[in-house]
Amino acid sequence: MREYESHGPADTERLGEALAKELRPGAVVAFFGDMGSGKTVFTRGLARGLQCTESVSSPTFALVHEYGGEPPLVHFDMYRINTWDELDSTGFYDYIDSGCVLAVEWSENIENALPEDAVRVEFFRGSGENERLIRVTGETIHEDFGD
Ligand SMILES: Nc1ncnc2c1ncn2[C@@H]1O[C@H](COP(=O)(O)OP(=O)(O)OP(=O)(O)O)[C@@H](O)[C@H]1O
Ligand SMILES: [Mg+2]
Repeated sequence: MREYESHGPADTERLGEALAKELRPGAVVAFFGDMGSGKTVFTRGLARGLQCTESVSSPTFALVHEYGGEPPLVHFDMYRINTWDELDSTGFYDYIDSGCVLAVEWSENIENALPEDAVRVEFFRGSGENERLIRVTGETIHEDFGD
């Protein structure tokens, strides 16, 4: 388990970029944290770290966005997902083991469907408006992220 203090969106994005470098193809990055805690900002960093050129926005209405990247990044918003069928309709099961990196907002809602080797990224608010504590749990290829 590793913890990082973020003092603003740029910090959070940098952490995402750094984490991208240590993910294996097919990794599932499961985000936990409330609205506005920084999950999409972190995903923007992941995208940059995977050399995506498309801009990352919240997949709230589409539920899923597929971006390019090396490997490709797939970004889910599970905020409205309550059932296995709804989860299936996002393509989640097809993307698992596709070799894409999956970034999953609102993983709270699909906790039972997450693979055991998912990398969990939890967001906590700090005392100031721009303060976040970001906790990363799970195995990655190597652990130089954030150093
Ligand atoms: N340290 C920080 N890290 C990330 N975002 C921050 C930070 N400080 C302030 N912010 C602001 O908080 C907001 C985070 O928004 P973001 O869309 O990433 O949240 P989210 O967790 O994806 O929310 P949602 O659940 O609604 O999708 C942005 O407006 C960003 O500018
Ligand atoms: Mg979001």
